[in-house]
Amino acid sequence: MDFQLSEDQQFIRKTARDFAEKTIKPTVAERDQHHIWPAEIVKQMGELGFMGVAINEQYGGSGLDYVSYAIIIEELSRVDASCGVIASVNNSLVCYGLERFGNEQQKHELLTPLASGARLGAFSLSEPQAGSDAAAQKTRAVKDGDYYVINGIKNWVTNGPHADTILLMAMTKPELGIKGITCFIVDTHQPGVSVVKNEDKLGIRSAHSAQMAYDDYRIHKDMILGEEGLGFKIAMTILNAGRIGIAAQAIGIAQGAFEAARDYAHVREQFGQAIVHFQAVGFTLADMATRIKAARLLAYEAATRKDRHEDYIAAASMAKLFASETAMWSATKAVQIFGSNGYSKEYPVERFFRDAKITEIYEGTSEIQRLVISRELMKPGAIA
Ligand code: CAA
Repeated sequence: MDFQLSEDQQFIRKTARDFAEKTIKPTVAERDQHHIWPAEIVKQMGELGFMGVAINEQYGGSGLDYVSYAIIIEELSRVDASCGVIASVNNSLVCYGLERFGNEQQKHELLTPLASGARLGAFSLSEPQAGSDAAAQKTRAVKDGDYYVINGIKNWVTNGPHADTILLMAMTKPELGIKGITCFIVDTHQPGVSVVKNEDKLGIRSAHSAQMAYDDYRIHKDMILGEEGLGFKIAMTILNAGRIGIAAQAIGIAQGAFEAARDYAHVREQFGQAIVHFQAVGFTLADMATRIKAARLLAYEAATRKDRHEDYIAAASMAKLFASETAMWSATKAVQIFGSNGYSKEYPVERFFRDAKITEIYEGTSEIQRLVISRELMKPGAIA
């Protein structure tokens, strides 16, 4: 077992860190406060190859491994978790799905612009009544010759208002339940799809998540991803990969909160000394660093399993579960170390605190991760 990142991976971390520090950081607080979409940053992330990191170069991607992908999402999120999730959704929820399940024509025509950053993607599974119970889809796609006509409401579509392409789950045969769900590759520039409302969120406010409506949206059968009826399986497979991305996002948030708290503890003086010299503060920083390292190792292990084409369902859920809880815990501790200043928008930790919460919720809540892990552990021959 090798715990050392390769030279390429170290270079990728440095590239992503420099970009985040120089280009993302100057506007992060204002974008967060005023809900501003980072259009120019998204464009530059595409130019750097951050929007299709692990996608084959023949389809416009950077052709890197999944550990490199995790490193990039971590470094973006260390500065701005909104940029982290925008990239993560495009990479793992859209590009990975198209590369894994798309036919050659779909990969050349639809994946290439998404992986190169020329276009933006979103993923649409959740509905008002279908959150953790993702199979309870109400959006209907009714066959009409070579077309399907889609009607329904989708919730929490991250990137949705700016997306060119959406991987949409819809019910084609309700009588078949889970096996009646189909994944469509939606072109948002066609009539019949619209944004109902942009959510006003607690955190990741620069990344936009919308409720979207489909109103007699007509789509050709060639825009089915995989086959009719495979949509639930496709969505679950995509989410396995997505959970590595969210684990990486959570690690970045935790790391950003840790570094801010550590630096502050060195300059903030109380009772005649820097507060870092009080054992309560020093031990808290020690616990933060230890948990973050453990989360990172879990995420890189899950990514490595994926790179090796090994089963990584439980590994991805474990990484996402532990990293997201580490992010929330570390951000809470960081606010505490900052005291009243931690409650102020003048300092970054209140943003890390707000951003951390969503990592315990989206792409499967912590409860769903525990469910997935426990089910995987019950399979014959499963190793924890
Ligand atoms: N990987 C691959 N296949 C899977 C799978 C996985 N992780 N989990 C289930 N499946 C497959 C099963 O093998 C089964 O297939 P077969 O019939 O061929 O055997 C099929 O899917 C049905 O599985 P279950 O019987 O386990 O389905 P269930 O309804 O009991 O439970 C669940 C499924 C695990 C609870 C699932 O609904 C789930 O993961 N829910 C959470 C949904 C979620 O993560 N939503 C996130 C929304 S996206 C988002 O947040 C986007 C954003 O903006 C960032």
